[in-house]
Amino acid sequence: MAYRKIVDNVCEVGAIDWNRRSFDELVPLHEGTSYNSYLIKGSEKIALIDTVDPKMLPVLVDNLKEAGVDRIDYVISNHAEQDHSGSLPDVLKLYPGAKVVTNPKCKAFLQDLLLLKEEDFITINDNDRISLGDKTLRFIIFPWVHWPETMLTYLEEDKILFSCDLFGSHVADSRLFATKEDEILVYEGALRYFSEIMYPFRDNIRNQFSKVLELDIKYIAPSHGQVYENPDFIINCYKEWTSPEVKNKAVIVYNSMHGSTEKMVQFLTSELTKRNITVVPFHLSVTDIGKLAMEVTDAATVVVGSSQVLGGMHPSVAYAVYFYNLLRPKTKFVSVIGSFGWGGKMLEHIQSMLYNLKAEFITPVIAKGYPKDDDFKNLEKLADSIFENHKKIGVLK
Ligand code: FEO
Repeated sequence: MAYRKIVDNVCEVGAIDWNRRSFDELVPLHEGTSYNSYLIKGSEKIALIDTVDPKMLPVLVDNLKEAGVDRIDYVISNHAEQDHSGSLPDVLKLYPGAKVVTNPKCKAFLQDLLLLKEEDFITINDNDRISLGDKTLRFIIFPWVHWPETMLTYLEEDKILFSCDLFGSHVADSRLFATKEDEILVYEGALRYFSEIMYPFRDNIRNQFSKVLELDIKYIAPSHGQVYENPDFIINCYKEWTSPEVKNKAVIVYNSMHGSTEKMVQFLTSELTKRNITVVPFHLSVTDIGKLAMEVTDAATVVVGSSQVLGGMHPSVAYAVYFYNLLRPKTKFVSVIGSFGWGGKMLEHIQSMLYNLKAEFITPVIAKGYPKDDDFKNLEKLADSIFENHKKIGVLK
């Protein structure tokens, strides 16, 4: 991999992970991802912003050599998670004299995670600056994107915001800059990233967003994905994604062993469609869990569907519901549909797993065996109820 220039004396020297197919061992990646590390050569000092996932250390080292770096004065650590910090100990060994510049909370994390020593650090606080000579770095403490110690770094003279995981995207692309033509791909990669990583912290991001808006930004350089030459694109995405608003959308997440629950899902999908509600059904045997996370971020309603298995929900449904609940979704209405043969506590188990939700629970529809006339009537009533509720909150005119 080659290093890539943003402006004179500022370049990206990190690594593209073309082959990574799972992030956090949780969401599939179709496009890979990247761990961006930024080199800034000032007239007096040289700084590196973040490092790379430790398995990509050789790429970072090669890029630094290729960029002619024989000395690093400061390694800025915006975030202690190992996909950015994991190569820090090796970088400190390779460049003796380099100091890690970060905030007190991040320093504590780095000491815990990487066993760095007190003397390795220079500690900064919100709005502190360090001078590299003709370039100045300003630090903006911006906690909970998505860990408590996160911060952003702003290069004042070149108007570049190094935004850490904020505005990141799971995109592997040799082109450094996100192009206008690729905005759909970038949007997908950024939303996939946001939905898993940032969505549970959307209120924290929204409440601090003025710290970004008040900067004069020419480039946003996140820790994953491409650099934004058009910062408004990703800023506007985040304004929408972090808003408390929901859309006229119902997500149905389900599994079906013998077709009874599937029939109910098909019927409900059709009834909701007739009522002009956007429906997105996810059969969990074929679902990309990352895509499911993307769709639930702004859905007004979520319906969980399951066959009853051994007295409870299908295990694939348990996995999806558990993940969905962890995202602390802004869903307004939730219900359950499904089928059972005898006894069991499927409904209670599903409800008990949704403890993070502040949604109104709509009467569930559980069929004994294959759904019959009464069950279909109840599914029509469920569709009516979702329709009325969407009208009530103003997402359906
Ligand atoms: Fe990309 Fe939170 O690390």
